[in-house]
Amino acid sequence: MGLRYLLYRGDVITSYKYRCSAGCGSHQFTQRKDQIDCRSGGNQSEVVCKSCEAPVEEIQNSYQLREPISAGGHGTVWKAYVCDNNRTPVAVKFLNPEHLDTATVRERLEREACILRGLKHRGIVQVLDDASHPCTVVTDDDHERSVVAPFFVMEFIEGFSLEDQLQVARCNPHMAVAVLEQMAEALGAIHSKQIVHRDFKPANILLDGRTSPLVVKLVDFGIAKSERSPITRLGCWAGSNFYASPEQFRELSSTTDRSDVYSFAAVAYELLNSKGTVADGDISQTDLQQLNFLELPVRTVLQEGLTDEMNNRPAIGTFWTALKASLASSFAPTKLETTILASSLAPTKLETTPINVRVAVTPGSRGWDIR
Ligand SMILES: Nc1ncnc2c1ncn2[C@@H]1O[C@H](COP(=O)(O)OP(=O)(O)OP(=O)(O)O)[C@@H](O)[C@H]1O
Ligand SMILES: [Mg+2]
Repeated sequence: MGLRYLLYRGDVITSYKYRCSAGCGSHQFTQRKDQIDCRSGGNQSEVVCKSCEAPVEEIQNSYQLREPISAGGHGTVWKAYVCDNNRTPVAVKFLNPEHLDTATVRERLEREACILRGLKHRGIVQVLDDASHPCTVVTDDDHERSVVAPFFVMEFIEGFSLEDQLQVARCNPHMAVAVLEQMAEALGAIHSKQIVHRDFKPANILLDGRTSPLVVKLVDFGIAKSERSPITRLGCWAGSNFYASPEQFRELSSTTDRSDVYSFAAVAYELLNSKGTVADGDISQTDLQQLNFLELPVRTVLQEGLTDEMNNRPAIGTFWTALKASLASSFAPTKLETTILASSLAPTKLETTPINVRVAVTPGSRGWDIR
């Protein structure tokens, strides 16, 4: 039986939180019981922060829904605005109604917000708020019932996913290097916190169209694995065919940071593959042959990242340093179809400064035309 939310454009959703007015400063509490203390004195009940005993005040943040951006397997992402004078755009991720009663999937959305809250990195989408929203769902036979739907609010990335981009135009090497550089950094930051993303793929890499040089953000930590908040049980296979490591097909719980290295290498392979997007399938079985179109040093490094045996793959930092060096040595400017500045691919420059991507970005019907 299908379920639909009664969530519409223009709806206002509100997160109610509590904040300690002193001591803990701006600390926000969502779990009243855990972090605040209700005491009764005379006729008045006093609510204080458990850690510093300062009074607690209630705060509200409201968001107005504008339009759904995407409806995935488990979540729906809406573009929304903060209900204040600035009307800052935000992205709000809700759980799809059919999953509201599934504890593991609910837990998944809450974990995603929790993991993202602990990650502050320019290459990772930032979470601004999280809460639950009372709303109504309707069944196919028009029965309504009240539910409490968890959601979280992120900074809004005005742009396109790398997947959208690849559907309209291949990346030139400048852009490929810029995307990979920023994503290698983001994965390095995640791995240093013992988190494995497990769904690293073009659809989860957003290109921010407002900025120059290009800023790239990693999203969708829905199936990320964290040592600190381990998944109890997942009702589904985690990962996406072409980009998922072989161990993700075999034994999901065995994934490590080297599983993300495989996915990163698969994305790098696709970005550097001027012949177009590779069809879904097992890259290690069918597509490695096609690596022949790449220069030997690049091929050698990519094959290390795509090796079946997880423990033989390097860590993300080592992998990217080697790939970057192999790209700089392989792609002499004369060999490239698109214009590349030698300086931006020279090893010394790559080691020390971020690449300034020189791309002309014009909005197209489905993505950007990169020239
Ligand atoms: N912060 C954001 N700003 C702008 N767009 C976003 C943002 N977060 C997500 N999106 C858009 O929504 C799409 C889906 O988001 P996400 O990958 O987090 O969910 P999903 O794949 O549907 O999730 P799930 O795997 O849980 O079903 C993204 O590919 C992107 O287009
Ligand atoms: Mg996704």
